[in-house]
Amino acid sequence: MSESLFLIEGNKKEKYESLLPQIKALIGGEEDRIANLANIAAALKEAFDFFWVGFYLVKGEELVLGPFQGPIACTRIKKGKGVCGTAWQKNETIIVADVNDFPGHIACSSLSQSEIVIPLIINEKTWGVLDIDSDKINHFDEIDKHFLEELCSNIQ
Ligand code: SME
Repeated sequence: MSESLFLIEGNKKEKYESLLPQIKALIGGEEDRIANLANIAAALKEAFDFFWVGFYLVKGEELVLGPFQGPIACTRIKKGKGVCGTAWQKNETIIVADVNDFPGHIACSSLSQSEIVIPLIINEKTWGVLDIDSDKINHFDEIDKHFLEELCSNIQ
């Protein structure tokens, strides 16, 4: 297993295309879920310098904060609440171009301006979410959705 990332210059699509195989190799040799989530958060932060990137994990009727990179964050989110809880409830990716326009958005940081949340699904059941926040409005698009969903489909 390589313990450093090879990061290319390029557009967003090219960066994802280069990064994803490296992340797959990184997590492929390790069966511990928390270790893998920690490395994925670190790899995404290092490659894209997102404001906040991390995981919330389903525990009962709540999401509980998991491995992340960035400022401290709220620890528990109820099902159906905020962007994360809504992505869990709907079992689908949510892109929020401007967090001020999302009713019920949970502001862990006032600096967060836009957000994408991808559910982690195994056997049609969501067991967690990947949450990425940007300090820029309208940061995330269909390219992020495509590659991040592909990444999340590989997380066991
Ligand atoms: N904004 C999220 C909460 C988590 S923080 O962004 C890290 C939400 O509305 O669910």
